[in-house]
Amino acid sequence: MNFDFSADPFQQLDGFVKEAAERGLKDPNAMALATVSEDGKPSVRIVLYKGLIRGGFSFYTNYEGRKGRELAGNPFASLCFFWPTMDLQIRVEGKTAPLTRAESEAYFKTRPRLSQIGAWASHQSETISGTDELQAQVDEVDKRFQGQDIPCPPHWGGFHLIPSAIEFWFNRNGRLHERFCFLREGNDWKRLMKSP
Ligand SMILES: Cc1cc2nc3c(=O)[nH]c(=O)nc-3n(C[C@H](O)[C@H](O)[C@H](O)COP(=O)(O)O)c2cc1C
Repeated sequence: MNFDFSADPFQQLDGFVKEAAERGLKDPNAMALATVSEDGKPSVRIVLYKGLIRGGFSFYTNYEGRKGRELAGNPFASLCFFWPTMDLQIRVEGKTAPLTRAESEAYFKTRPRLSQIGAWASHQSETISGTDELQAQVDEVDKRFQGQDIPCPPHWGGFHLIPSAIEFWFNRNGRLHERFCFLREGNDWKRLMKSP
């Protein structure tokens, strides 16, 4: 996919995710998500990008895990995609908000049953004694919902990150990389380049 600095950055980001998938890259939609605790300490982990929803980049998680709690206390976050074989990094900064219950439930329905069970069984980010404890919780949830559709847990759902800045970084020879930045200005984007 070619990059066009005058074109819409959302469409171009989605286009690159699609291209990564078409190239057969593993987890083409994986992105690093950085959050910050209320006392200013950052943490980062990989989550899967699940598409643009109401102007924001969406992902799903446990609202009671570390990232969920950090986003509840401080909604500002950043994302980073990196596809080494495409010589491309995309960085995004902005403010997150939870998706609506209906949006989270609609996505939850599309997940495999075992992932749905996992969303109930895993108390994300909490200490456990070992894998047996988790398996016991999985077995209990599986039994509880035997023969029924599994509902979306109240503590599980999506967020979207509304960007204030998006940067496309292209690897170039001699470390003369090209950085194309889109900065939100009202309903428009201010476009500028940065030195590598
Ligand atoms: C390729 C990959 C995809 C992942 N996707 C998700 C995801 O979409 N949502 C999620 O909650 N965790 C996902 N994880 C697990 C997170 O990286 C992390 O371990 C977990 O969410 C707990 O993070 P926390 O304790 O900071 O909340 C993924 C991990 C990898 C390596």
